[in-house]
Amino acid sequence: MSIETLTKSVRNIPDFPIPGIQFKDITTLFQSASHLKELSEILYDLYKEKGITKVVGIESRGFFMGPATAIKLNAGFVPIRKPGKLPYNVIEETYTKEYGEDTIQIHEDALNEDDVVLLHDDLLATGGTMVAAYNLVKKLGVKKIYINFLIELEELEGRLHFPTDVEINSIIKF
Ligand code: PRP
Ligand code: MG
Repeated sequence: MSIETLTKSVRNIPDFPIPGIQFKDITTLFQSASHLKELSEILYDLYKEKGITKVVGIESRGFFMGPATAIKLNAGFVPIRKPGKLPYNVIEETYTKEYGEDTIQIHEDALNEDDVVLLHDDLLATGGTMVAAYNLVKKLGVKKIYINFLIELEELEGRLHFPTDVEINSIIKF
């Protein structure tokens, strides 16, 4: 299956959740068994040789493929969540995203300096969410971090907000 076929399976919703936003609805890709399997295999092939010990997924939409990818990579899964959801001690970052401001948190003992982390989310828009997540993972002492998105909105140039030595992969580009 080609990337073009995967790309065509993402539904565009104009003006959601607010006017001016072209929402990329990935549920139309996920609901197809063949498309979902292809996506999962692409993710596995990208990272199978990297020695990933933890996949870190960002609430909410990073929870779809994050755990599935962790299982395939024989890695653990760590959630980054919105405020008030994690029960133990957390560290947090506040950031500006495509539509509004938000804060994300991670358990203070979820990662350590020996971890090799794959940071995963569904979409790269401005990059605000993932930069905050990257900062959280760095604060926990992790030295090797890979970044992955299912979808990248290239014209927003979100990837320019990351250090140039960080490997950033996106599968579907708009
Ligand atoms: C969306 C999307 C990414 C982020 C991308 O999440 O799932 O996490 O925005 O935008 P950015 O690159 O400009 O930061 P959202 O905060 O809407 O929440 P959700 O995942 O819970 O739907
Ligand atoms: Mg999100």
